Amino acid sequence: MPLSKRPTLTQYLIEQRRRFPQASGELNALILDVSIACKAIARAVAFGELGETMGVSAEGGDVNVQGEVQKKLDVVSNAMFVHTTEWSGHLAGMASEEMADPYQIPESYPRGKYLLVFDPLDGSSNIDVNVSVGSIFSILRAPQDVIDSGRDVVEADFLQPGSIQVAAGYALYGPTTMLVLTVGNGVAGFTLDLNLGEFKLTHADIRVPEDAHEFAINSSNSRFWEPPVTRYVDECLAGRTGVRGKDFNMRWIASMVAEAHRILMRGGVFLYPRDSKDPDKAGRLRLLYEANPIGFLMEQAGGRASTGRQPVLGVPPSSLHQRIGLVFGSRREVERIESYHHDTARREAPNPLFVERGLFRD
Ligand code: AHG
Ligand code: MN
Ligand code: MN
Repeated sequence: MPLSKRPTLTQYLIEQRRRFPQASGELNALILDVSIACKAIARAVAFGELGETMGVSAEGGDVNVQGEVQKKLDVVSNAMFVHTTEWSGHLAGMASEEMADPYQIPESYPRGKYLLVFDPLDGSSNIDVNVSVGSIFSILRAPQDVIDSGRDVVEADFLQPGSIQVAAGYALYGPTTMLVLTVGNGVAGFTLDLNLGEFKLTHADIRVPEDAHEFAINSSNSRFWEPPVTRYVDECLAGRTGVRGKDFNMRWIASMVAEAHRILMRGGVFLYPRDSKDPDKAGRLRLLYEANPIGFLMEQAGGRASTGRQPVLGVPPSSLHQRIGLVFGSRREVERIESYHHDTARREAPNPLFVERGLFRD
C-alpha cells in the first residue's frame, strides 16, 4: 500500500470508535497521549550514549519498589508517561512499575474515568547493550465511585482482573519503533513513520499462528522449575526424536515486549513460569502491567495467555505489584503446557478415597 494511503493511529482509533456511537472520544485521546509518551521514549532510547539518559538513576536511592536497580531511562520514561497523560482530564489515576504507590492526578488538572497502568521501560537490562526494549500499558475503567467523587485513587481501585481491561498495548523500540494495540476488537500494529512522526497502520488484524516450533524461556532457572515446565521443555529439546516429533528452536531476548512481538508475528511460546527460586515471589513478571496487557493482546490475536494453571486474564489481583507465572503465545502450545500442569495437579491431589473423611482413612 502506498505510504500516504496507510491510516494513521488517529484514523484507526476514529474508525474503531464508530462502532460505539455514544463514545465520547476520551479513550482515543488517552491512547494518543500514551503514543506521544512512546514517541518521546523512542527518541531518548535512540540517542543512546549520545543522550544523557544512560546508566543508573541517581534518584530514589537507585532501587524501585521491586528491589530492582533503576536505570536513568526507567525514571525518564516513567516521567514521560506521567507528564504526557496527567493533564488531560481523562485519568482518575495511574500506577507504574517505577512508582510504589498509585499516582494522584494533581489538583490543578481535572480527573477522568480511566486508570492507566504501565511498565514504562520493559527489558531495561538490555538498554546498555543496545538491544530492543519497550513500554507496556493497560487502560482500566476507574470504579464508579472514583468517577463520581473525583477522590484520590487507592491500590484497591486497580485490582481488576485483566478480562475487563478497556485497552492494552506496547511500544517496541527496535530497529523500527512500533506500537501494537488492542481496544478489544483484534490487534493492530503501527510503525513509526520517522518523516511524519506519526504511527502508521502496517499490521492490520494480527493473528498468532496456532502451532509453534519456537519457545522462549530463561533456562538458567531450570533447576527451580516445576515438573510440568521441565516436561514441556525436555520434549521440545528432544525434537524430532521425542514425543513432539518435530524440532524446536529457542530464543531468549530478556525483553518480554520483544518476545511478545516475535510471537505475534510468527508464533511461538514464551514462559516465565512460577518457580521455586524465591519462595516469596510467585513468578518474575508483574500481573497488572506486564502479564495482563500482553495477555489481552495475545487473546485478541487468537493466542492464549495463562499462569500455567488458569487463564491469566481471570486472575483477581491481590496487590499492585503482584508477580505471577506467565505462559503465552500460540494457542495449542499454551494449552499443552496447561494440560501438563493439570496432569501434575491431578497426580498430586490426594485420592478422594484416602482423604480425611474418605473410606480408607488410616
Ligand atoms: P523490566 O525491565 O521491566 O524489569 O522487565 C524485564 C523482564 C522481562 O522483560 C524479561 O522477559 C525478563 O524480565 C527477563 O528476566 P531474566 O533477567 O530473568 O532473563
Ligand atoms: Mn518489564
Ligand atoms: Mn520496566
